[in-house]
Amino acid sequence: MTARDFPNWEALYQEKPVETMPWFNPSLDADVEHALLTLDLSTGEALDLGTGPGTQAMALAERGFRVTATDLSATAIRQAAAKATEQGLSISFRQDDILNSHLDQSFDLILDRGCFHVLPPDSRSIYVQTVANLLKPKRYLLLKCFSQQETREAGPYRFTPEEIQQIFSERFQLRSVEQTVYQGTLDPLPKAVFCILEKQ
Ligand SMILES: C[S@@+](CC[C@H](N)C(=O)[O-])C[C@H]1O[C@@H](n2cnc3c(N)ncnc32)[C@H](O)[C@@H]1O
Repeated sequence: MTARDFPNWEALYQEKPVETMPWFNPSLDADVEHALLTLDLSTGEALDLGTGPGTQAMALAERGFRVTATDLSATAIRQAAAKATEQGLSISFRQDDILNSHLDQSFDLILDRGCFHVLPPDSRSIYVQTVANLLKPKRYLLLKCFSQQETREAGPYRFTPEEIQQIFSERFQLRSVEQTVYQGTLDPLPKAVFCILEKQ
């Protein structure tokens, strides 16, 4: 597997408006919305992991979740927190590296829309253990990442459903995986997989 290049996340959020970023999606990701309906989830403690612009965290808070939102970039967190305050939303925003996390809460729901697929392949097992430890038993990780079907050269790592199954199998049951798109500012939208993973 070829190693992929990623920006310095903190510098990126200092330099560019979030609305120009490929992953910027002002409303709740359509696949997340559908999963919440399917799983009948509308309340509880939710973590938006790698929140970036914070749009998904804000949408979850609007729907009734008590939301914690984390990102590696302190600037992303500061900007997203200011927007949430403007909108009258109460969200706990924290700078946190999921590969060296200081979170000590446990969650009913974790959303990862685009963080896992930018992590180095050799850190995936740390990610799986950390995320599983942050979830209550039998609760869900909603994961969106680029699909192996995406043909653009640049961008994050890509995954097949079989790879997701294998990477997460020690701690999660793969409840569903769908081929979909990653809503944002790119045209055409990148091909993505959306996975519902249940903690064992
Ligand atoms: C593709 S963006 C997605 C942002 C957001 N989830 C969304 O859907 O708009 C990936 C995000 O993951 C964050 N990130 C990268 N590595 C991380 C890490 N180790 N821990 C936490 N966040 C990380 C980046 O700063 C960036 O905001």
